[in-house]
Amino acid sequence: MTYFRENVEKAKGYEPGFQPKEADVVKLNTNENPYPPSPQVMKALAEVTAERLRRYPDPQANEFRQAAGQLHGLSPEYIMCCNGGDELLNIAFRAFCDETRPVAYPVPSYSLFPVLAKLQNCKAIEVPFDTEFNLPAKLASTDAALTIVCNPNAPSGTFVAVEELASLADEVSGVLLIDEAYVDFAEVNCIELVKNFDNVIILRSMSKGYSLAGMRFGYAIAQPDLIAGLMKLKDSYNVDAIAIAVAAAAIKDQKYFKENVENVKAERARLTIQLRKLIFDVPDSQSNFVLAKCKNCKADQVYEKLTRRNIYIRYFAHPGLEDKLRISIGTPEQNDKLFSALQEILAE
Ligand SMILES: Cc1ncc(COP(=O)(O)O)c(C=O)c1O
Repeated sequence: MTYFRENVEKAKGYEPGFQPKEADVVKLNTNENPYPPSPQVMKALAEVTAERLRRYPDPQANEFRQAAGQLHGLSPEYIMCCNGGDELLNIAFRAFCDETRPVAYPVPSYSLFPVLAKLQNCKAIEVPFDTEFNLPAKLASTDAALTIVCNPNAPSGTFVAVEELASLADEVSGVLLIDEAYVDFAEVNCIELVKNFDNVIILRSMSKGYSLAGMRFGYAIAQPDLIAGLMKLKDSYNVDAIAIAVAAAAIKDQKYFKENVENVKAERARLTIQLRKLIFDVPDSQSNFVLAKCKNCKADQVYEKLTRRNIYIRYFAHPGLEDKLRISIGTPEQNDKLFSALQEILAE
């Protein structure tokens, strides 16, 4: 006997990366930014008044929409703010998918996609990437109501060219959602596509490049008609007053943002070289993590041994990922600790 809908009862739910309580750990498992947010963020936080908390927030978070619109060269009508990028994914599944309207996405990708499909009771058409993570041609002809491409992809960190996604937007019969949660660390992005395609939604997150994972703030970029439709599905006050003030301060401080991202990218380059020299195949990453494939080692065992040393990374026992480790880019000190531990473990 259950009170839940059958698909909800059967669903396992999303399994977030482990959040250790101890402070003295090397935490490279959930793709957080290792550096703090902009000082402007802390100033905005300190300036939040009791009056601001007493009242409901602006339902559309226009302060942020204007700042983001200005940054991207778009009017605020192209932007919808969300309680993290994950809320946009949730909204998109509810907006476009049901028992007769499937979702399609390449795999392996973000492990939240199949969870949301199950909860929405829609068919998930999973189209495998090749070993180089090239965009599978079959994705264009699935007839799905919603096609999702994570770019840069998680957990591979690889990037599909903007022109390829433009062709895909042209070919799919439904909506194309491009999950750009990690695009702050890439060379280019797909924002231009929203100008030419009325079926493209771009997902952005403030959790990664802006160091605000704890605040929960993301946004959608799409043509105003699509944004207006998505708005019907969000909670009236889906982003709170503190989050609006903080996220707006963060996005306005582009100087800090760029320095922060460059620091992560420099460490990504250094760690990639070190891992390749050690024993791993590591594709070039355009995100704030790398996917390291064990050549002569067992990924799950390396993961366990690192965990025992209080070094947390991510291992997925999923098809195509069993021999790989996903490592978020940390500070130089954290990356050095990881590297020394890997050297010791592989010498055992
Ligand atoms: C691929 C991908 N998309 C979207 C998100 C959502 O990010 P957030 O809800 O923190 O904005 C994440 C978070 O890790 C992610 O990995």
